[in-house]
Amino acid sequence: MLAVVVFAGCKNGDQKKADAAPNAVLQATKDVHTLSNADSVDMQHLDLDIAVDMDKKRINGSALWTINNKDKVSVLKLDTYDLTIDSVQVDGKKVAYSLDKQIQYLGSALHIPITANSGAVKIYYHTGDSARALQWLDPQQTHDKKHPFLYTQSESIYARSWIPCADGPGIRFSYSARVKVPKGLLALMSAENPQEKNDSSIYHFNMELPIPAYLMALAVGDIAFKPVDERTGVYAEQGVVEKAHWELEGIGDMVNTAEQLYGPYRWGRYDVLVLPPGFPIGGMENPRLTFCTPTILAGDRSLVSLIAHELAHSWSGNLVTNATWDDFWLNEGFTDYFERRITERMLGKSYVDMLWELGYQDLVEEVNGLAKTPKDTWLKLDLKGRDPDAGLTDIPYEKGSHFLELIERTVGRDSFDHFLAKYFDAHAFKTITTEAFLAYLDSNLIHGDTSILNKIQINKWVYGPGIPANCPRADRERFAKVDSERMKFLNDVPATKLATSEWTTHEWLQFLRTMPPALSAAQMGKLDAAFSFTNTGNSEIADLWFVMSVRAGYTRAYGAMDNFLSSVGRRKFLEPPYGEMMKTAKNAPLAKQLYAKYRKNYHPLAQEGLDKLMKVN
Ligand code: BES
Ligand code: ZN
Repeated sequence: MLAVVVFAGCKNGDQKKADAAPNAVLQATKDVHTLSNADSVDMQHLDLDIAVDMDKKRINGSALWTINNKDKVSVLKLDTYDLTIDSVQVDGKKVAYSLDKQIQYLGSALHIPITANSGAVKIYYHTGDSARALQWLDPQQTHDKKHPFLYTQSESIYARSWIPCADGPGIRFSYSARVKVPKGLLALMSAENPQEKNDSSIYHFNMELPIPAYLMALAVGDIAFKPVDERTGVYAEQGVVEKAHWELEGIGDMVNTAEQLYGPYRWGRYDVLVLPPGFPIGGMENPRLTFCTPTILAGDRSLVSLIAHELAHSWSGNLVTNATWDDFWLNEGFTDYFERRITERMLGKSYVDMLWELGYQDLVEEVNGLAKTPKDTWLKLDLKGRDPDAGLTDIPYEKGSHFLELIERTVGRDSFDHFLAKYFDAHAFKTITTEAFLAYLDSNLIHGDTSILNKIQINKWVYGPGIPANCPRADRERFAKVDSERMKFLNDVPATKLATSEWTTHEWLQFLRTMPPALSAAQMGKLDAAFSFTNTGNSEIADLWFVMSVRAGYTRAYGAMDNFLSSVGRRKFLEPPYGEMMKTAKNAPLAKQLYAKYRKNYHPLAQEGLDKLMKVN
């Protein structure tokens, strides 16, 4: 996919040499992660007709693409990954297609002969055993343990493992679907959704707004629905839906708050689907239906800013989309910034300051971890020749959101908000590159103002490594109090005497994160006796506690850690405890033993990451 972008940010020459974008030339942006030729053929609409076979763990059916061969090319190239193509028809007639050899993570290009006037390409296919987007759960891997479950995770380039498509973030299409599922199960998609099961077990879907392939999503299971207000609601397994509904009751207000900030929510309904525990990530912004991990059900609504993040993607990402995975910060940095603005409105400044500070700490750690590959700490990434998963670090999120926070502080909140609302509106249902964003930023906000440019130093952020010296920091008012309680504990004040009664999850995280690296098992025991960390139902705290326990040799937490690793599938929570165990010869055997037991419970993508960590294969 070629998107031609003119960099227009250089009206008044000189000061631009010091800052702004590096080159005022015509830039061609190629998405190196799609094998399709959708730059020559418009992929207008997808009509999917599939059956979900839970026994064979296979999706079987057809994808009918409405195309416009605008460049009059003689072949349509589509992305596939481990798909078996059963047959292909062009305008109702069978054609001879060919499938290239697989190129690692990119998969195999499917070549279909077309003519200048071809309008309909129908591909009959079924999925393979190594479909990276699909997680098939046996009943015992679900919460209710009665029915199987299937869900997809298509970002970044996994849609091609369950649909033959042009799989690049810059390629949009509308879709409709007919999905047949086993009796007694409900199907949901990133589309208009049913709210209850029907007798036919056939469900119809429609997404009339154009979306990129990475937002294609499907979930099938024994799922129930409970509304929050007229346009929002919660889906989950039968046995989870009440708890999920309680935790997520704020999502109606959240959508209203987001709209006040950046303009109307354009997708109709906003629902959240809480998945079984093996879901490999925190959340995924599938349009109209955010998918999320059950690890946010902490019982006190303290982890719902994750939903604010996925909701914010309805503007940054789903409405205005990064042109390539090299521009990923345009999706995630904007969304982290926007998430914090929503959270600030709903829960106040001192609360969101804690999120900013924890995010800053993550950024520092990530930059240190990437010391050997400093280019991976630029906002504009260079993922050529690599799996786009390589760009999935805290950099696009935290360096991106801090960059936007810096612009906000420099130009003032009102001007920045006005600019952002206009940006989302002007680029709605379009794709944008980093260079085009910088050009838009200059023409609509900075207007070449040298003093603003000197304060922000755009190049240092976007095309430079590490954390620039002008990185904004949040007020540390609440964390200063946490720090003083931590000091008291380290000076032998009994843990029960510490002033912790008002603390939220974030204060606890700060308290634990800033402890000296090696606490003694006795100190761990004192903390545990006072605060029951080993048995906390809060996954963020539990995860950190288990890492500390391994480090301290605090074996009383190991049973709970075993239990945690047996059920939780979120990569962010698996890699730290396994990684900590693998650091020493003493603990590595425990890691290996646990991983051997639980690997099969994890999502294919979590397995890939952990296999490397555990040096399996
Ligand atoms: N879009 C991402 C998830 C993603 C990114 C999946 C790239 C695959 C490739 C989603 O919005 C996200 O960022 N999720 C975070 C939570 C968020 C609160 C930072 C996660 O899953 O941890
Ligand atoms: Zn995100």
